[in-house]
Amino acid sequence: MRLNDKVALVTGFGSGMGRAISLRFAEEGAKVAGLSRSVEAGQESLRQVRAKKGEAAFFPTDVRDAAQVQAAVDQTVQAYGRLDIVVNCAAVRITGTATDISVEDWDAVLDTNLRGTFLVSRAAIPEMRKSGGGCIINLSAISGFHGTAGRVAYSVSKGAVNNLTEAMALDHAADRIRVNCICPGITETPMVTIASPEQREQLQRRIPLGRVGLPEDIAEAAVYLASDAARQVTGAILAVDGGSHLA
Ligand SMILES: NC(=O)c1ccc[n+]([C@@H]2O[C@H](COP(=O)([O-])OP(=O)(O)OC[C@H]3O[C@@H](n4cnc5c(N)ncnc54)[C@H](OP(=O)(O)O)[C@@H]3O)[C@@H](O)[C@H]2O)c1
Repeated sequence: MRLNDKVALVTGFGSGMGRAISLRFAEEGAKVAGLSRSVEAGQESLRQVRAKKGEAAFFPTDVRDAAQVQAAVDQTVQAYGRLDIVVNCAAVRITGTATDISVEDWDAVLDTNLRGTFLVSRAAIPEMRKSGGGCIINLSAISGFHGTAGRVAYSVSKGAVNNLTEAMALDHAADRIRVNCICPGITETPMVTIASPEQREQLQRRIPLGRVGLPEDIAEAAVYLASDAARQVTGAILAVDGGSHLA
């Protein structure tokens, strides 16, 4: 098992990639502390991890709130004694151009996707130092490589997450904390609605490898980045998108 005895804190636990990553991490021997807001969705992720004999705890948390984030990190260390891995999955995607997105929606996107990633990393790093090192994996998007039409706030948030990844990779390398980023392409989760077989066809035509991603594809990349196999990898921005960022 590649993550035996590691303690991993995963945000976005109740859905999509956060759930898939938690399930894979638990299969690889990690103890998972899951953070998201909906109690029902978090309990369902917990049930799925435990059904596979994995070890997990759920701490309902809004990642925009510094006090809640600090409390969740403290609860994680209380429950499992240390913290080795953080995966920042929590995000919202709200569309809109500079003139038609509301100020409230702009704030919601930046506060969740960027401030949330910063707050969780900020609270976790001191605990990783105590563990002698660790690893942070941020979830970005193709919009992190270049701005995307009609998604001004989301693009800004993901571009900033890429830069945050690189800056933190440099700042914390001496503490043996690796910081990397995954940029998924279109991936079938509750964030993306594929309404019809025709729409799926259309999406697939735009992806060089010809298939829409699954959350499990992202989970495999996260296991690699979290594992000792990636011991020399930090500051990487890894596209897991079937080649879409090149198309
Ligand atoms: N799916 C795609 O095609 C795609 C493509 C590129 C990048 N991504 C990125 O991949 C990551 C995972 O996306 P996904 O597709 O798995 O999304 P998802 O299924 O919509 O899940 C998002 C998760 O974030 C949590 N969340 C949202 N706001 C939160 C807050 N304020 N505090 C705590 N948790 C919060 C949600 O739970 P609650 O609402 O219960 O809090 C949910 O568990 C995101 O960073 C996303 O931007 C996704």
